[in-house]
Amino acid sequence: MSTKWDQYFEGAKGLPANPFYAKLRPFLPTTGHALDLGYGVGTGLLWWKELGWQVTGLDNDQFMEAQFLDSFGEIEGIRFVCGDFSEAPRGSYDCIAFVFSLFFQPSREAFLRSWEVIKENCAPGGLIAGQFLGPDDSWGVGDLTPPSPVVTHQREELLEMLSDFELLLLDEQNRTGKTLYGEPKRWHVYHIIAKKLN
Ligand SMILES: C[S@@+](CC[C@H](N)C(=O)[O-])C[C@H]1O[C@@H](n2cnc3c(N)ncnc32)[C@H](O)[C@@H]1O
Repeated sequence: MSTKWDQYFEGAKGLPANPFYAKLRPFLPTTGHALDLGYGVGTGLLWWKELGWQVTGLDNDQFMEAQFLDSFGEIEGIRFVCGDFSEAPRGSYDCIAFVFSLFFQPSREAFLRSWEVIKENCAPGGLIAGQFLGPDDSWGVGDLTPPSPVVTHQREELLEMLSDFELLLLDEQNRTGKTLYGEPKRWHVYHIIAKKLN
């Protein structure tokens, strides 16, 4: 089986869950139901499970579910959905995570459709957590071709989008680095953790 995410997949499959999950940990209650958008190799799904949470993982690439089941088999408490971010199963999630995934969008309109779903399906007092890309990012500028088209946001735009949330973490990084598969890249990333206002 092959996917346009091959390079990402090869780079990520032997690694532990993204370190961002460890940053999220202190903000989380002991148990709950997470929606993990764009789970990719699925190490994040295993992280939620180990934490004692139930998790619904959504990805629009069927390959991701197939490879997870191949490697780990079915695991109680982990539910898979194949679809676009905007098609996430409706619910009242205690945390909606989008770890290096939500900015992969074909257009700003598509991004906004997904964003509305996230806002509506995060429980009052629940968390959203993940990354947005800033305007200097190599993928947004077009210096590098992303695995899938991306949307970027100015910091002010982002703050406006988050007006229904209490910001718990906003860590903006704008520096040169590498992709997971070793390609030199400028990363302009906002790491966000925010709590939905009641
Ligand atoms: C960088 S990868 C996965 C990152 C993963 N969360 C991790 O921590 O390793 C991005 C994932 O988002 C998924 N994806 C991209 N666009 C999507 C969309 N519009 N709807 C659902 N999933 C999408 C891709 O299939 C891919 O698995």
